[in-house]
Amino acid sequence: MLLAAVDERMADVSIFSPASPQAGWIVDLAILTLAIIGIIFLVVEGILFYSIWKFRRRKNETAGEPAQVYGSEPIEIAWTAAPTMIVFFLVLVTTRTLWEVEAAPVTPREGDQSLFVTVVGHQWWWEYRYDNYDGRQLGFVTANELHIPTGDDGVPRPVHLTLQSGDVCHSFWVPRLGGKVDLIPGRTNLLSFETTQPGLYLGQCAEYCGDQHANMMLRVVAEPPAEFETWLENQAKDAVDDPAVAEGKATFLANSCVNCHRIAGTAAKGIAAPDLTHLMSRETLASGQVPNTRSNLRKWVHDPQSIKPGVLMPAFGLSEQEENQIVEYLRTLK
Ligand code: CUA
Repeated sequence: MLLAAVDERMADVSIFSPASPQAGWIVDLAILTLAIIGIIFLVVEGILFYSIWKFRRRKNETAGEPAQVYGSEPIEIAWTAAPTMIVFFLVLVTTRTLWEVEAAPVTPREGDQSLFVTVVGHQWWWEYRYDNYDGRQLGFVTANELHIPTGDDGVPRPVHLTLQSGDVCHSFWVPRLGGKVDLIPGRTNLLSFETTQPGLYLGQCAEYCGDQHANMMLRVVAEPPAEFETWLENQAKDAVDDPAVAEGKATFLANSCVNCHRIAGTAAKGIAAPDLTHLMSRETLASGQVPNTRSNLRKWVHDPQSIKPGVLMPAFGLSEQEENQIVEYLRTLK
């Protein structure tokens, strides 16, 4: 049921159904540009086909070149000036859109209703460091599913992303929310957008970044402010410590899992891989690749390569019992 709903929404990654003002400006520019080049196409093809028809060889004509015409100043001026003016116009409107869409650096303020998140691109997943919301310092980290608040009652709730990379170039692109912005090693880029429509927005890493580039999916969950607050509160907590899965926790902490993964409130403090503190609050695993079900999680722990070939996590050759314990432990991390 849930998955059917997800599949349905998956269809819409079109830039032509914008859900933010920023994406709207980009569509306007795209339509204007398409209209202009459409007209040019029709004019050029029209003249071409007219000439082919009008100056075709007639029955009683002999073969050979027709009379050659050289040099017409007015025509040369016209076909130089017109394209120059068209290009200049396109440069102007594109620059205006760039100005509109370009995120200016914003500093968090008390009561600004704005969300600040640092996004770090990794091969092949997304790290989200929640920095600030409505002037409150946050300081938790999550992965692959970005939650944002929607604006309502005339209150906009802007989202400001600081984009960085942990390894190679990636590109953050959620077509219905905004334009593509690259995540470049050693550089910081900014992206801002806001939406009033709750829902799931899908996107995709848009810069080739290695084997699993195509499976570096983006999922943005936009939810009404109250729901978003509930989500925030839960994410900011330490991990659930359920005594029923104490064995699984011990197994997790005794293995190499802790070198890369973090589970807040435990000794697992790795930062090279997704933070697992609230793993079960996410709908998917492996950056949107498979639904987050017990069997997929089991498969992942057993051999991540079988789901995402090339992923940096190897199969650790744990015993079946250890794998089951770890999975049961992870399943409690709501
Ligand atoms: Cu990350 Cu392509």
